[in-house]
Amino acid sequence: MRKPTLRWVDGAVELLDQTLLPHEVKYLRCEDIDTLAEAIKSLRVRGAPAIGLAAALGIALKAGKNDSSNREALIEDLEETASVLAATRPTAVNLFWAIERMRSIWCLPDISTDELRQAVVNEALEMVVEDTGICRALGEHGATLLPDSCHVLTHCNAGYLATADYGTALAAIYVAHEQGKTVHVWADETRPLLQGARLTTWELKEAGIPVTLICDDMAATVMASGRVDLVITGADRIAANGDAANKIGTLGLAVLANHFGIPFYIAAPKSTVDFAISSGESIPIEERSPHEVTHLAGKQIAPHGVDVFNPAFDVTPNSLISAIITEDGVHRPPYDATLTS
Ligand code: MRU
Repeated sequence: MRKPTLRWVDGAVELLDQTLLPHEVKYLRCEDIDTLAEAIKSLRVRGAPAIGLAAALGIALKAGKNDSSNREALIEDLEETASVLAATRPTAVNLFWAIERMRSIWCLPDISTDELRQAVVNEALEMVVEDTGICRALGEHGATLLPDSCHVLTHCNAGYLATADYGTALAAIYVAHEQGKTVHVWADETRPLLQGARLTTWELKEAGIPVTLICDDMAATVMASGRVDLVITGADRIAANGDAANKIGTLGLAVLANHFGIPFYIAAPKSTVDFAISSGESIPIEERSPHEVTHLAGKQIAPHGVDVFNPAFDVTPNSLISAIITEDGVHRPPYDATLTS
């Protein structure tokens, strides 16, 4: 049974704390925005769609806590909250998409302050329900690309832990499995934060789907030996031309897949497509603390003071992507013609 990635309980946001997985299943209760913002920054909640939903619920949380009868004061409070949340992580466009959608509610004219407060909460809850439907639809389209018996390689975690349910890349695998297809997954460990080792393998094992964990640098070997039929990953932001930012290491996999003639797919909801940018060059790439690279499981593994470069994402050019799967279907190149809002 899948556990909720995030939930709304008695006016607060509860997040399945992903930094504790796979050892401990524990929810973090966020009763204020600082706790929620810290949870997003430190990847307690992570994955592009889940980050957006966490922000939407955070804004609902703030609306619920604000008891002012003054409409302007409520809106000011929500704008301030939006700024704090927008500053947490720069790459996943779903965060900004979710904030804009919430803003369209608090900008509604002609409703009372109490109605506005309630409308904000309702919208956030609706977005969580909607995301489940979107991921399911995306999974059904994605499953059509999986042969009856196949080996699929994935990177990072684009499973239910990264969304309200099902996931994006893993949704295709869950649906194919439900349909009776025989799917085996190669999960890249995904250094430095090990989302593949800690989260993807945990999710798939719980679902009874065969999974084999590999270090990132083993992907070439499994591909070269003919043991991968397709690669499928999620995305954090897709430009209008189909260039796609995803977890660091995705670009290398796309290059390898291309070299070995293996289809390389990206699965993401349309809220991940940033139609405002024409190519991947404009996607902001988050750089994270050197500590994530110099330390492993709390232990220092590199010389003290060594220079570190730690980009959290890379951009795969559209020319290496065989298809992009959204809730609308399977989109083939040229993406600026086939990906439409
Ligand atoms: O840094 P993370 O763990 O938030 O990065 C997550 C990814 O890169 C996922 O592949 C992406 O957000 C898609 S999740 C459906």
